[in-house]
Amino acid sequence: MEYTLLNNGIKIPMLGLGTYRIGKTDNDVYRAIRTALDVGYRHIDTATLYGNEAPIGKAIRESGIPREEIFITTKLWGDDVVKDAVPQAFDRSMQLLDIDYIDLYLVHWPVKNKLVSTWREMEKIYASGKAKAIGLSNHLQHHLETILEEANIPPAVNQVEMHPYVVLDDLVGFCAENGIICEAWSPLGSNKIPLLKEQVLQEIGGRYGKSTAQVVLRWNLQRGVIAIPKSSGKERQQANLDIFDFELTSEEMQFIRSLDRNYRTGIHPDEITF
Ligand SMILES: NC(=O)c1ccc[n+]([C@@H]2O[C@H](COP(=O)([O-])OP(=O)(O)OC[C@H]3O[C@@H](n4cnc5c(N)ncnc54)[C@H](OP(=O)(O)O)[C@@H]3O)[C@@H](O)[C@H]2O)c1
Repeated sequence: MEYTLLNNGIKIPMLGLGTYRIGKTDNDVYRAIRTALDVGYRHIDTATLYGNEAPIGKAIRESGIPREEIFITTKLWGDDVVKDAVPQAFDRSMQLLDIDYIDLYLVHWPVKNKLVSTWREMEKIYASGKAKAIGLSNHLQHHLETILEEANIPPAVNQVEMHPYVVLDDLVGFCAENGIICEAWSPLGSNKIPLLKEQVLQEIGGRYGKSTAQVVLRWNLQRGVIAIPKSSGKERQQANLDIFDFELTSEEMQFIRSLDRNYRTGIHPDEITF
C-alpha cells in the first residue's frame, strides 16, 4: 500500500474500497467488507446514501483488525443539509457504524447557498474530535473558492468523479495548490463506459502483465489521486490492490490522459438539486 498525508497530518491509504451497491442485503455487504479486509484493504468509503453503514461497521468491528489500522470515510447527504440537520446526520452515521470515530467525513454534494454554513457545521464536528478529518465531495473550483475564503479549517479532501474520460487536471491542480487531496470516485468508469476496453490501456497493461483496470488505478495514484474502486468479489478486490509493483512512464501517463473527453457518468456538480 502507498499512503499520503492529509493537510492535518492524518495518514490515508492511496487505494480504498468503494461500497456503493456492494451488496443487495446487509449480509452481502458484511461479507464483501470482511473479504476486502482479509485481502488487505484498510480504507473503506461509504455514505449515508448507500444505506450500508451498519453492516460495514459490523464487519470492521468483527474483523479483529485494530481500529486505528482502518480508515473509514462516510458522507453527509444533501437532504440533511437542506433540513439543517448536519449534527444529527453525523450522529446517525456514528450510531450506524457503531465506532468511536470516523476518519473522514465528507459533504457529499454541494448544496447551493449553503456551502459556507454547512462547512461551519463540519468544522464543529471536527472540533469534537469524532471526525479525524473533514472534506468535500463533488465540489468544483468555484465551490472550493467560496468555502476556502471563509474556512477556519481547510477541507482535507475533494472526492469527485475522475477517470481517463474525465481527467480534470485544473481541479486537481487547484486542489493541490490549496493542500486538498483529490479522490477519484468511479475510477474504473463504474462499468457504464467502455473505458476498460481502450486499446491504449490494453497495450500498456500488456507491457507489465496488468489488466486495464490495474493500469487505470495506477494512473490515478501516480497523479497523486486516491482511488476507491468498488468490487463485491474477492478476485477483483485482490486484483485492484495489486498495483504497487509497477510504474507507468511519463509518456504512458500522457497517453492515458489523452483519452480525456470531459465525460461524466454521473451528474455534473452544478446540476445537482436537493
Ligand atoms: N462521492 C460521490 O458522489 C460518489 C459517487 C459514486 C461513487 N462513489 C464512491 O466511489 C466508489 C467507486 O465508484 P463506482 O462503484 O461507481 O465505480 P467503479 O469503482 O469505477 O466501478 C465499479 C464496477 O467495476 C467493476 N469492477 C471492479 N473491479 C474491476 C476490475 N478489476 N475489472 C473489471 N471490472 C471491475 C465492478 O464489478 P464487481 O463488483 O462485480 O467486481 C463494478 O461493476 C463507489 O463504490 C463509492 O464508494 C462516490
